[in-house]
Order: sequence, then C-alpha cells, then structure tokens
Amino acid sequence: MKVLGVSGSPVQNSNTDRALKIALEATCMKSEFIKLSDYTFGPCDACLGCIKTNKCIKKDDGVMLAEKTFKADALIIAGFTPYSSLDSRTKAYIERLYPLRHRNQLMAGKPGGAIVTSANPSRQEQMLSAAASSIDAIKHYMIDEGMNFLGGVSLLGNVPCVRCGQDGQCQMSGLKILYGKDATPESVGIFDFESDSAKVSELKKLGEAIGASFFK
Ligand SMILES: Cc1cc2nc3c(=O)[nH]c(=O)nc-3n(C[C@H](O)[C@H](O)[C@H](O)COP(=O)(O)O)c2cc1C
Repeated sequence: MKVLGVSGSPVQNSNTDRALKIALEATCMKSEFIKLSDYTFGPCDACLGCIKTNKCIKKDDGVMLAEKTFKADALIIAGFTPYSSLDSRTKAYIERLYPLRHRNQLMAGKPGGAIVTSANPSRQEQMLSAAASSIDAIKHYMIDEGMNFLGGVSLLGNVPCVRCGQDGQCQMSGLKILYGKDATPESVGIFDFESDSAKVSELKKLGEAIGASFFK
C-alpha cells in the first residue's frame, strides 16, 4: 500500500512540506513526497479529451502527476493560501486529476486528507478563514471523486516578508499587517510549526487514520 503526498509550496523545506512529511510517516505506509514546483503543468483545459481514455491529451507533467496519483492507494494534498485561497499549483494539480473520473471513477474509495498552511489564521466577517476555505477546496475534490476524506489540518506558515531582506522598512509588509506597525523580520522571526505540539499530533493523527483505514 502506498500513500502519495503532494505539496503545492514552492519554498524549500517549508512548513507545508515538513507538515506533509510528518503525516506521511504516520501512515506507516510506503510513501512518496512530490513537490509540484519541481514540475511544469497547467490547469485543465476542459477539452474533454480524456473522456474515453482516462488520460489527459496535454503534453506536460500533469499527465505523469495524474498517473502517479492513480497508482497511489491514498493521497494527502498540502497547499498554502496566497491572497486567501488555495495556491494555484495545488488547484491546477487537482484539476488535472479530472481524467481519473470519467466512467470508472478511479479514485473512489481511496482515503485522503488535506493540510493547509496560512499566515493569517483569522477570518473576515461573513467569510471562512483562508485555511478553512482551502481545506474545503481539497475536501470538495476528494468527496466529488468518491474518496474517503479523513480530515484536514490547518497550520501557521511564514509570511514571505519575513525573508524579504527589507529590514522592516517596507510599509506594505505583511508582518506589519499581522503583528503591528513596529514588526520587523527580526522581531517576528521564522516560524517552525513543530513548536506547536498540538499541531504535530493533529498531523500524526491524520496520517494514522489514513494508515488504519486499510485495516477496517
Ligand atoms: C503571494 C502571496 C500572498 C499571500 N497571501 C496570504 C494571505 O492572503 N493570507 C494568508 O494567510 N497567507 C498568505 N500568504 C502566506 C502563505 O500562506 C504562507 O507563505 C504559507 O503559509 C506558506 O508558509 P510556509 O512557507 O511556512 O510553508 C501569502 C503568500 C504569498 C507568497
């Protein structure tokens, strides 16, 4: 049994990546970690060229990514939240899984989970938080494909401004929006989610639930 972990984060060894690896390890399954920024692919063109073959006709890495996803027995998708919605690589990857749907519903019954990091855990009035709406986007995909969605974990990630090199001079800094007008990259510092043990256990529980689902 193999679980595939797909990260939409382009940042090397990001919180998103490391969180996904913890959940993958907790499944106790054979696992593969994929970083979408290592590949070149676009979104689904809605051409329906995949209807009869369950294979996309585009000539890019999206075909291989869908093939790998089909071959996996379980799937964990991890994304982040630029401008408060699911990042576009993760969204494009999900769209490119459309070929696995037609006639055969090739992902049906497989267990899956979602992990989303966001820099701003709060929400605007009447709106879901960026993390909650992005977990929902992944959950919608899994439910629409008949998968067994076993949970979503949201985590704090780093605002890119923390490593921008402007020494707190930029008035547009996300750090000032989130942490107040005097905040600087130095005063805020790089956040490692591992310092939040409750989140680490949530991630492990998600992985364990996915692994355990094969023995029920
Ligand atoms: C272009 C851009 C816009 C962003 N906008 C938001 C945002 O609106 N809300 C938010 O919570 N985080 C925002 N972020 C922060 C990301 O969610 C954060 O980088 C993510 O949690 C990844 O963290 P990590 O690199 O520590 O894994 C943005 C990041 C980028 C690159």
